[in-house]
Amino acid sequence: MGSRRLRLGVNIDHVATIRNARGGPHPDPVRAARMAAAAGADGITAHLREDRRHISDGDIQRLMEQIDLPLNFEMAATEEMLEIALRHKPHAACIVPERREERTTENGLDVAGTNMDLKGYAGRLLDAGIRVSLFIDPDIRQIDAAHEVGAPVVEIHTGTYCEAAAGSARDAELERIEMAAGRATELGIECHAGHGLSFGMVGPIAAIPDMMELNIGHFLIGEAIFGGLESAIIRMRALMDNARAAANGARSA
Ligand code: PXP
Repeated sequence: MGSRRLRLGVNIDHVATIRNARGGPHPDPVRAARMAAAAGADGITAHLREDRRHISDGDIQRLMEQIDLPLNFEMAATEEMLEIALRHKPHAACIVPERREERTTENGLDVAGTNMDLKGYAGRLLDAGIRVSLFIDPDIRQIDAAHEVGAPVVEIHTGTYCEAAAGSARDAELERIEMAAGRATELGIECHAGHGLSFGMVGPIAAIPDMMELNIGHFLIGEAIFGGLESAIIRMRALMDNARAAANGARSA
């Protein structure tokens, strides 16, 4: 498991945030997706929020038509989003909680506590051949609940880890992520992670042997302002690969 290459999904939402600040077509998130593909991304992630604050319906349509990389479609568990996902049939659908007043996705989905029929909802996506991923906090209860829902993939929210002060708080959060990832593997669930990852924070997450994919957006788009998108992605890729190789080396030594 640890020797497989860790995939990088590039989230292009915030290219659309900048575009929407002026209302015209520039900068185009689909162009960013094309550049990300050329720079070595393994997938593109885009979140069609209910309020359409960044990615638009037209962006999803063009991503499906013009980009060869697998699209990870982030969506709230609503009937509207289900209809859109079933129409486009992206490679994967990552179900996230969504509140209009939040600036970004603040917590994972409460799979264990929800009273909606998440199993039925996920089942409709799975039946259409869409890989379902549930965005959850690093909590064993949530992993077990994702298993009951029949999700083949979970994405672990790394936001708390990224925001924790260096030292015991961050170490404890990393340990929670490692334990959750281990539990996912035990249950046959593929483990992804994302939120808040940067050059400085990605290494320890990439080193977790159960981790198969990282989805990274805001930091890469921000870095692109200073050094270009291509160089930001290439550097992130190298940091991920180096951390994974070092961890594999340490385990086999
Ligand atoms: N994964 C999920 C499910 C997300 O909601 C987000 C944020 O849109 C990300 C990954 C990427 O987070 P960031 O933009 O902080 O890198």
